[in-house]
Amino acid sequence: MAESKKKRIGLLTSGGDCAGLNAAIRAVVCRAVNGFGWEVMGIREGTAGLLQRPPLVEELGMRVFTGNILRMGGTILGTVNKGNPFAYPMPDGTVKDRSNEVIEAWRELDIAALIGIGGDGSMAILSRLTQQGGIPFIGIPKTIDNDVAFTEAAIGFNTAVTRATDALDCLQPTAASHHRVMILEVMGRDAGHIALNTGIAGGANVILIPEIPYNIQKVADHIVTLQERGRSHALVVCAEAVRTSSGEAVYDTHSKGARRYGGIGHVVGEQIEELTGAETRVTILGHVARGGSPVAMDRVLASAFGVHAVDLLAAGKRDRMVVWQHREVVDVPIEEVITRMRAVDVNGTLVRTARGLGISFGD
Ligand code: F6P
Repeated sequence: MAESKKKRIGLLTSGGDCAGLNAAIRAVVCRAVNGFGWEVMGIREGTAGLLQRPPLVEELGMRVFTGNILRMGGTILGTVNKGNPFAYPMPDGTVKDRSNEVIEAWRELDIAALIGIGGDGSMAILSRLTQQGGIPFIGIPKTIDNDVAFTEAAIGFNTAVTRATDALDCLQPTAASHHRVMILEVMGRDAGHIALNTGIAGGANVILIPEIPYNIQKVADHIVTLQERGRSHALVVCAEAVRTSSGEAVYDTHSKGARRYGGIGHVVGEQIEELTGAETRVTILGHVARGGSPVAMDRVLASAFGVHAVDLLAAGKRDRMVVWQHREVVDVPIEEVITRMRAVDVNGTLVRTARGLGISFGD
Protein backbone atom coordinates (compact mmCIF):
# COMPACT_ATOMS: atom_id res chain seq x y z
CA MET A 1 0.00 0.00 0.00
CA ALA A 2 1.37 3.44 -0.96
CA GLU A 3 2.45 5.59 2.01
CA SER A 4 0.03 8.49 2.42
CA LYS A 5 1.55 11.91 1.79
CA LYS A 6 2.39 13.96 4.88
CA LYS A 7 0.52 17.24 5.28
CA ARG A 8 2.88 20.18 4.84
CA ILE A 9 2.25 23.61 6.36
CA GLY A 10 4.14 26.88 5.97
CA LEU A 11 5.25 29.04 8.87
CA LEU A 12 6.57 32.59 8.69
CA THR A 13 7.24 35.63 10.83
CA SER A 14 6.24 39.02 9.46
CA GLY A 15 6.60 42.67 10.52
CA GLY A 16 8.98 44.05 13.14
CA ASP A 17 10.68 41.41 15.26
CA CYS A 18 10.23 41.07 19.01
CA ALA A 19 11.16 38.68 21.79
CA GLY A 20 9.17 35.44 21.84
CA LEU A 21 8.93 34.77 18.09
CA ASN A 22 11.28 31.81 18.34
CA ALA A 23 9.26 30.37 21.22
CA ALA A 24 6.18 30.50 18.96
CA ILE A 25 8.06 28.89 16.06
CA ARG A 26 9.19 26.13 18.41
CA ALA A 27 5.65 25.55 19.70
CA VAL A 28 4.17 25.30 16.18
CA VAL A 29 6.81 22.79 15.12
CA CYS A 30 6.51 20.72 18.33
CA ARG A 31 2.75 20.43 17.96
CA ALA A 32 2.64 19.94 14.18
CA VAL A 33 5.49 17.43 13.96
CA ASN A 34 5.06 15.52 17.22
CA GLY A 35 1.31 15.87 17.57
CA PHE A 36 0.13 15.35 13.99
CA GLY A 37 3.12 14.07 12.02
CA TRP A 38 3.02 17.06 9.63
CA GLU A 39 5.93 18.73 7.90
CA VAL A 40 6.60 22.39 8.69
CA MET A 41 8.30 24.52 6.06
CA GLY A 42 9.86 27.60 7.63
CA ILE A 43 9.61 30.49 5.17
CA ARG A 44 12.52 32.88 5.54
CA GLU A 45 12.22 36.71 5.43
CA GLY A 46 8.41 36.73 5.57
CA THR A 47 6.63 37.10 2.23
CA ALA A 48 9.88 38.40 0.71
CA GLY A 49 11.17 34.83 0.86
CA LEU A 50 8.28 33.71 -1.33
CA LEU A 51 9.10 36.30 -3.98
CA GLN A 52 12.56 34.78 -4.44
CA ARG A 53 13.20 31.95 -6.87
CA PRO A 54 13.74 29.38 -5.55
CA PRO A 55 11.66 30.45 -2.52
CA LEU A 56 13.63 30.80 0.72
CA VAL A 57 12.39 27.87 2.79
CA GLU A 58 13.77 25.21 5.10
CA GLU A 59 12.11 22.27 6.77
CA LEU A 60 11.77 22.82 10.52
CA GLY A 61 11.90 19.38 12.08
CA MET A 62 12.59 18.72 15.74
CA ARG A 63 16.25 18.19 14.93
CA VAL A 64 16.54 21.90 14.14
CA PHE A 65 15.95 22.70 17.79
CA THR A 66 18.96 22.40 19.97
CA GLY A 67 17.32 23.34 23.26
CA ASN A 68 17.95 27.08 23.30
CA ILE A 69 15.42 28.40 20.80
CA LEU A 70 12.84 29.12 23.49
CA ARG A 71 15.22 31.58 25.09
CA MET A 72 16.40 33.38 21.96
CA GLY A 73 15.36 36.90 20.93
CA GLY A 74 14.63 37.82 17.30
CA THR A 75 13.38 35.28 14.79
CA ILE A 76 15.42 32.43 13.33
CA LEU A 77 13.31 32.78 10.16
CA GLY A 78 14.04 36.47 9.58
CA THR A 79 11.28 38.95 8.87
CA VAL A 80 10.36 42.05 6.85
CA ASN A 81 8.21 45.03 7.69
CA LYS A 82 8.00 46.43 4.19
CA GLY A 83 7.29 45.11 0.69
CA ASN A 84 3.56 44.37 0.75
CA PRO A 85 3.17 41.89 -2.18
CA PHE A 86 -0.08 43.62 -3.23
CA ALA A 87 1.75 46.94 -3.67
CA TYR A 88 5.39 46.02 -3.99
CA PRO A 89 7.78 48.94 -4.51
CA MET A 90 9.87 48.16 -7.62
CA PRO A 91 13.41 49.49 -8.18
CA ASP A 92 12.16 51.80 -10.95
CA GLY A 93 9.84 53.58 -8.50
CA THR A 94 6.62 51.90 -9.67
CA VAL A 95 4.38 49.75 -7.48
CA LYS A 96 3.43 46.24 -8.62
CA ASP A 97 0.95 43.59 -7.46
CA ARG A 98 3.17 40.52 -6.92
CA SER A 99 0.63 38.51 -4.92
CA ASN A 100 0.42 35.77 -7.58
CA GLU A 101 4.14 35.11 -7.23
CA VAL A 102 3.64 34.35 -3.53
CA ILE A 103 0.77 32.00 -4.34
CA GLU A 104 2.80 30.25 -7.06
CA ALA A 105 5.54 29.64 -4.48
CA TRP A 106 3.06 28.00 -2.08
CA ARG A 107 1.81 25.77 -4.87
CA GLU A 108 5.34 24.88 -5.94
CA LEU A 109 6.19 23.99 -2.33
CA ASP A 110 2.93 22.04 -1.88
CA ILE A 111 2.01 24.04 1.21
CA ALA A 112 -1.51 23.14 2.36
CA ALA A 113 -1.96 25.83 5.04
CA LEU A 114 -0.11 28.78 6.52
CA ILE A 115 0.57 29.96 10.05
CA GLY A 116 1.75 33.58 10.16
CA ILE A 117 3.16 35.30 13.23
CA GLY A 118 2.67 39.04 12.84
CA GLY A 119 0.97 42.28 13.81
CA ASP A 120 -2.32 43.61 12.44
CA GLY A 121 -0.79 44.82 9.16
CA SER A 122 0.70 41.38 8.48
CA MET A 123 -2.58 39.69 9.41
CA ALA A 124 -4.41 41.74 6.77
CA ILE A 125 -1.87 40.95 4.04
CA LEU A 126 -1.50 37.24 4.86
CA SER A 127 -5.22 36.68 5.18
CA ARG A 128 -5.83 38.30 1.77
CA LEU A 129 -3.00 36.31 0.18
CA THR A 130 -4.18 32.96 1.56
CA GLN A 131 -7.77 33.65 0.55
CA GLN A 132 -6.60 34.45 -2.97
CA GLY A 133 -4.45 31.31 -2.95
CA GLY A 134 -7.24 29.17 -1.49
CA ILE A 135 -5.33 27.84 1.53
CA PRO A 136 -6.29 28.02 5.23
CA PHE A 137 -4.57 30.65 7.35
CA ILE A 138 -4.14 30.98 11.10
CA GLY A 139 -2.57 34.10 12.62
CA ILE A 140 -0.54 34.44 15.81
CA PRO A 141 -0.36 38.03 17.13
CA LYS A 142 3.00 39.56 17.98
CA THR A 143 3.98 43.16 18.53
CA ILE A 144 5.69 45.09 21.27
CA ASP A 145 3.05 47.80 20.65
CA ASN A 146 0.27 45.49 21.94
CA ASP A 147 -2.23 47.19 19.66
CA VAL A 148 -3.73 44.06 18.05
CA ALA A 149 -7.47 43.89 18.75
CA PHE A 150 -9.07 41.17 20.91
CA THR A 151 -5.91 39.95 22.62
CA GLU A 152 -4.90 41.15 26.06
CA ALA A 153 -1.29 40.57 25.12
CA ALA A 154 0.60 39.98 21.91
CA ILE A 155 3.96 38.18 21.87
CA GLY A 156 6.80 40.61 22.67
CA PHE A 157 4.84 43.14 24.70
CA ASN A 158 5.70 41.83 28.15
CA THR A 159 9.39 41.69 27.29
CA ALA A 160 9.30 45.24 25.90
CA VAL A 161 7.72 46.52 29.11
CA THR A 162 10.31 44.65 31.16
CA ARG A 163 13.19 46.14 29.14
CA ALA A 164 11.74 49.65 29.44
CA THR A 165 11.16 49.19 33.16
CA ASP A 166 14.78 48.05 33.53
CA ALA A 167 15.75 51.32 31.83
CA LEU A 168 13.73 53.33 34.36
CA ASP A 169 15.36 51.35 37.16
CA CYS A 170 18.73 52.45 35.78
CA LEU A 171 17.65 56.06 35.28
CA GLN A 172 16.17 56.62 38.75
CA PRO A 173 19.42 56.49 40.79
CA THR A 174 21.28 58.76 38.37
CA ALA A 175 18.30 61.15 38.31
CA ALA A 176 18.31 61.21 42.11
CA SER A 177 22.07 61.70 42.33
CA HIS A 178 22.05 64.72 40.01
CA HIS A 179 18.61 66.09 40.89
CA ARG A 180 17.53 65.79 37.28
CA VAL A 181 14.36 65.11 35.35
CA MET A 182 14.89 62.04 33.18
CA ILE A 183 12.76 61.56 30.11
CA LEU A 184 12.52 58.05 28.72
CA GLU A 185 11.05 57.81 25.22
CA VAL A 186 9.68 54.38 24.34
CA MET A 187 8.35 52.77 21.17
CA GLY A 188 4.74 51.69 20.74
CA ARG A 189 3.76 53.28 17.45
CA ASP A 190 0.31 54.91 17.81
CA ALA A 191 -0.54 53.19 21.09
CA GLY A 192 0.67 54.09 24.58
CA HIS A 193 0.62 50.61 26.13
CA ILE A 194 4.38 50.31 26.61
CA ALA A 195 4.66 53.80 28.11
CA LEU A 196 1.69 53.31 30.43
CA ASN A 197 2.76 49.92 31.77
CA THR A 198 6.40 50.99 32.09
CA GLY A 199 5.48 54.18 33.87
CA ILE A 200 3.45 52.31 36.47
CA ALA A 201 6.00 49.50 36.90
CA GLY A 202 8.96 51.87 37.04
CA GLY A 203 7.52 54.54 39.32
CA ALA A 204 7.30 57.39 36.80
CA ASN A 205 5.96 60.77 37.86
CA VAL A 206 4.63 61.65 34.41
CA ILE A 207 3.39 59.42 31.58
CA LEU A 208 2.66 60.90 28.17
CA ILE A 209 0.69 58.73 25.73
CA PRO A 210 -0.92 59.51 22.38
CA GLU A 211 -4.39 58.63 23.67
CA ILE A 212 -4.37 61.44 26.26
CA PRO A 213 -3.61 64.94 24.91
CA TYR A 214 -1.37 66.82 27.34
CA ASN A 215 -0.59 70.39 28.26
CA ILE A 216 3.13 70.92 28.84
CA GLN A 217 2.44 73.61 31.46
CA LYS A 218 0.51 71.02 33.50
CA VAL A 219 3.44 68.61 33.21
CA ALA A 220 5.78 71.35 34.43
CA ASP A 221 3.44 72.33 37.27
CA HIS A 222 3.35 68.71 38.44
CA ILE A 223 7.15 68.55 38.50
CA VAL A 224 7.39 71.87 40.37
CA THR A 225 4.88 70.57 42.95
CA LEU A 226 7.07 67.49 43.43
CA GLN A 227 10.09 69.76 43.90
CA GLU A 228 8.19 71.84 46.44
CA ARG A 229 7.37 68.66 48.34
CA GLY A 230 11.07 67.86 48.54
CA ARG A 231 11.46 65.48 45.59
CA SER A 232 14.59 66.63 43.79
CA HIS A 233 14.25 64.43 40.72
CA ALA A 234 11.53 63.09 38.44
CA LEU A 235 10.95 60.38 35.85
CA VAL A 236 8.92 61.03 32.71
CA VAL A 237 7.94 58.25 30.28
CA CYS A 238 6.91 59.44 26.86
CA ALA A 239 5.47 57.31 24.05
CA GLU A 240 7.10 57.91 20.67
CA ALA A 241 3.84 58.94 18.94
CA VAL A 242 3.03 61.70 21.42
CA ARG A 243 2.60 65.01 19.60
CA THR A 244 4.26 68.31 20.37
CA SER A 245 2.21 71.00 22.14
CA SER A 246 1.33 72.34 18.70
CA GLY A 247 0.00 68.93 17.62
CA GLU A 248 2.81 67.66 15.40
CA ALA A 249 4.30 64.19 15.47
CA VAL A 250 8.10 64.08 15.70
CA TYR A 251 9.96 61.91 13.21
CA ASP A 252 13.44 60.67 12.61
CA THR A 253 14.10 61.09 8.90
CA HIS A 254 16.23 58.39 7.37
CA SER A 255 17.90 57.92 4.02
CA LYS A 256 15.53 57.56 1.05
CA GLY A 257 13.05 59.77 2.91
CA ALA A 258 11.75 57.06 5.29
CA ARG A 259 10.21 58.61 8.41
CA ARG A 260 9.77 56.87 11.74
CA TYR A 261 8.63 58.19 15.07
CA GLY A 262 11.52 59.41 17.19
CA GLY A 263 12.59 62.50 19.09
CA ILE A 264 9.50 63.71 20.97
CA GLY A 265 11.44 63.03 24.19
CA HIS A 266 13.90 65.80 23.29
CA VAL A 267 11.10 68.28 22.60
CA VAL A 268 9.41 67.48 25.92
CA GLY A 269 12.76 67.55 27.77
CA GLU A 270 13.61 71.04 26.46
CA GLN A 271 10.21 72.38 27.40
CA ILE A 272 10.35 70.92 30.91
CA GLU A 273 13.79 72.45 31.40
CA GLU A 274 12.54 75.87 30.26
CA LEU A 275 9.38 75.81 32.36
CA THR A 276 10.73 74.28 35.59
CA GLY A 277 14.40 75.26 35.62
CA ALA A 278 15.24 71.61 36.31
CA GLU A 279 18.08 69.98 34.44
CA THR A 280 16.76 67.33 32.03
CA ARG A 281 18.29 64.40 30.20
CA VAL A 282 16.65 62.32 27.50
CA THR A 283 17.02 58.60 26.75
CA ILE A 284 15.47 57.12 23.64
CA LEU A 285 15.18 53.40 24.29
CA GLY A 286 14.39 52.48 20.68
CA HIS A 287 14.90 48.90 19.54
CA VAL A 288 16.33 47.78 22.88
CA ALA A 289 12.71 47.07 23.82
CA ARG A 290 12.45 44.56 20.98
CA GLY A 291 15.51 42.56 21.84
CA GLY A 292 16.97 40.13 24.30
CA SER A 293 15.65 36.93 25.74
CA PRO A 294 11.84 36.81 26.08
CA VAL A 295 10.47 37.09 29.63
CA ALA A 296 8.62 34.06 30.99
CA MET A 297 5.15 35.35 30.13
CA ASP A 298 6.09 35.87 26.50
CA ARG A 299 7.37 32.30 26.34
CA VAL A 300 4.15 31.01 27.89
CA LEU A 301 1.99 33.08 25.56
CA ALA A 302 3.99 32.10 22.47
CA SER A 303 3.81 28.43 23.43
CA ALA A 304 0.04 28.53 24.02
CA PHE A 305 -0.51 30.45 20.76
CA GLY A 306 1.65 28.05 18.73
CA VAL A 307 -0.06 24.91 20.00
CA HIS A 308 -3.55 26.37 19.55
CA ALA A 309 -2.79 27.59 16.03
CA VAL A 310 -1.83 24.07 14.94
CA ASP A 311 -4.86 22.57 16.71
CA LEU A 312 -7.11 24.98 14.80
CA LEU A 313 -5.69 23.83 11.48
CA ALA A 314 -6.09 20.21 12.58
CA ALA A 315 -9.74 20.93 13.35
CA GLY A 316 -10.24 22.29 9.83
CA LYS A 317 -10.50 25.95 10.90
CA ARG A 318 -9.26 28.82 8.72
CA ASP A 319 -8.95 32.61 8.84
CA ARG A 320 -8.76 32.75 12.61
CA MET A 321 -6.30 34.51 14.90
CA VAL A 322 -5.36 33.07 18.27
CA VAL A 323 -5.80 35.49 21.17
CA TRP A 324 -5.27 35.63 24.93
CA GLN A 325 -8.40 36.45 26.92
CA HIS A 326 -9.10 35.88 30.61
CA ARG A 327 -6.09 33.58 31.09
CA GLU A 328 -7.12 31.38 28.16
CA VAL A 329 -6.05 31.04 24.56
CA VAL A 330 -9.07 31.30 22.26
CA ASP A 331 -9.51 32.41 18.64
CA VAL A 332 -11.38 35.08 16.70
CA PRO A 333 -12.09 35.71 12.99
CA ILE A 334 -9.22 37.51 11.28
CA GLU A 335 -11.49 39.95 9.46
CA GLU A 336 -12.66 41.33 12.80
CA VAL A 337 -9.06 41.83 13.95
CA ILE A 338 -7.82 43.73 10.93
CA THR A 339 -10.49 46.40 10.99
CA ARG A 340 -9.65 47.54 14.54
CA MET A 341 -6.75 48.77 16.60
CA ARG A 342 -6.43 48.36 20.37
CA ALA A 343 -5.50 51.71 21.85
CA VAL A 344 -5.13 52.43 25.58
CA ASP A 345 -8.53 52.66 27.25
CA VAL A 346 -8.37 56.12 28.76
CA ASN A 347 -10.99 55.13 31.36
CA GLY A 348 -9.49 51.69 31.98
CA THR A 349 -7.85 50.12 35.02
CA LEU A 350 -4.30 51.12 34.20
CA VAL A 351 -5.02 54.78 33.56
CA ARG A 352 -7.06 54.86 36.78
CA THR A 353 -4.25 53.10 38.62
CA ALA A 354 -1.69 55.61 37.38
CA ARG A 355 -3.89 58.55 38.33
CA GLY A 356 -4.50 56.95 41.73
CA LEU A 357 -0.76 56.78 42.25
CA GLY A 358 -0.48 60.50 41.56
CA ILE A 359 1.13 60.05 38.14
CA SER A 360 0.36 62.96 35.83
CA PHE A 361 -0.72 62.53 32.20
CA GLY A 362 -0.38 66.28 31.72
CA ASP A 363 -4.14 66.65 31.17
O1 F6P B 1 5.69 48.06 15.58
C1 F6P B 1 6.84 47.77 16.31
C2 F6P B 1 7.79 48.94 16.30
O2 F6P B 1 8.92 48.61 17.09
C3 F6P B 1 7.19 50.27 16.74
O3 F6P B 1 7.05 50.37 18.13
C4 F6P B 1 8.16 51.24 16.12
O4 F6P B 1 7.53 52.48 15.88
C5 F6P B 1 8.53 50.56 14.82
O5 F6P B 1 8.24 49.19 14.97
C6 F6P B 1 9.97 50.71 14.42
O6 F6P B 1 10.14 50.15 13.16
P1 F6P B 1 11.57 49.82 12.52
O7 F6P B 1 12.05 48.55 13.14
O8 F6P B 1 11.29 49.68 11.08
O9 F6P B 1 12.48 50.94 12.86
